[in-house]
Amino acid sequence: MKTKTLYTCQNCGYQSPKWLGKCPDCASWNTLAEEVQFRGGGVADPLGSSVPIPITDVPKEHEERFRTGISEFDRVLGGGLVAGSLVLIGGDPGIGKSTLLLQAMNKLAEAGGVLYVSGEESARQTRMRGERLGSKSSGLYILAETSLEKILTHIKRLQPRAVVVDSIQTVFTGGVESAPGSVSQVRECAGKLMLLAKGSGTPVLLVGHVTKDGSIAGPRVLEHIVDTVLYFEGDSGHPFRILRAVKNRYGSTNEIGVFEMTDGGLQEVKNPSELFLSERPAGASGSVVVATLEGSRPLLVELQALVTSSSLGMPRRTTIGIDHNRLALLVAVLEKKVGMALGGQDIFLNVAGGMRLSEPAADLGAVAAVASSYLDKVIDPNTMVLGEVGLAGEVRAVTQPEMRLKEAAKLGFTRCILPAGSVRQAKAKGIELVGVKSLEEALAQLF
Ligand code: TYD
Ligand code: MG
Repeated sequence: MKTKTLYTCQNCGYQSPKWLGKCPDCASWNTLAEEVQFRGGGVADPLGSSVPIPITDVPKEHEERFRTGISEFDRVLGGGLVAGSLVLIGGDPGIGKSTLLLQAMNKLAEAGGVLYVSGEESARQTRMRGERLGSKSSGLYILAETSLEKILTHIKRLQPRAVVVDSIQTVFTGGVESAPGSVSQVRECAGKLMLLAKGSGTPVLLVGHVTKDGSIAGPRVLEHIVDTVLYFEGDSGHPFRILRAVKNRYGSTNEIGVFEMTDGGLQEVKNPSELFLSERPAGASGSVVVATLEGSRPLLVELQALVTSSSLGMPRRTTIGIDHNRLALLVAVLEKKVGMALGGQDIFLNVAGGMRLSEPAADLGAVAAVASSYLDKVIDPNTMVLGEVGLAGEVRAVTQPEMRLKEAAKLGFTRCILPAGSVRQAKAKGIELVGVKSLEEALAQLF
């Protein structure tokens, strides 16, 4: 076998034949590390069995799916684990990836053998965790091993229904000289597991840690190799965890599953809106409820703002769970179009419960919360606010208002301030719809 030395960026996977101080791709410094690459000899038959065929002649694939029995997990996967798929579950260390997979695999193991490879914890530690979670199906096999070759041999012998590798950063293959966790190790190991999954039809789930800056080799370099990428996220200070699909060859992305971390492991949250609103303060200014769509799911969340006069030359604009630039923009619109004097005010905006909002449909809610705190006027607790805010102070239509209103009606909301352009599309039982065209109109309706 021929070998060749390449320098690989540990951050983005960029490869260069010579060492460079700065990665030309991702511009990070000192991330290029030497890695020896192996190249096979010449190929006898360059085409082999590959033949192009008309798309209409391609046999239809029947997708066999295994349900794990944890419906939030199954839904995010697109209706269960697809046979032969490679799934990556990324997330911060300690967020609950191992817990989730152990629970999910335990249910799957009740109907046949499942192999859980743990490179981070001993079999005994995994068992202890399993006891705590009530995961002790005898079909669940635990293997504490980090050598990929040994893992593959065990899989061939055991023929499990599904395999978990926790985590991909701890396994290594003898074919690559660099340390476990490096880009070429992670990529090579994932590639071999991919061949196994496709060849045998066994679904393989990989766990990958991401650090705060996403810099460690792992999830980022693997995203294009695997079929499905799920991120498990949450705030370590809150018990809520959200499982989010960011890539899925077998289902829709943007789908989310909501869990709560408890003493007995992860519990599915069937009605997240109710949970996110359960601790809403009564009669407090600065609090408002908005409806956001996460995949096919409407979620009601509380937005909280605190506006206080600032002692700083540059007043603070701090957000948690919502884009900081978005707040700056909305505050500028409030100042210019409504004439609210926010220049000397510190403004804090928080999405309660550790949720993250990225939809513009939450704009009007953010503005309403800021205005409510500034004016110290309470927003009626049974009123929900929907709408995107434009730079001219106009309120723009939102997507799928009906779904959002339905969720609000379920939770007892009786009034909704929404864009005039969305009123026509929306029919909601038991909710008074107040269509508004501008920020001024919206504020007049609220206060
Ligand atoms: P873990 O699944 O080990 O995280 P990861 O694999 O993503 O690194 O989860 C660890 C955290 O979860 C730890 O801080 C303790 C907490 N936890 C519970 O609160 N309850 C439980 O039943 C379990 C198993 C863990
Ligand atoms: Mg773990």
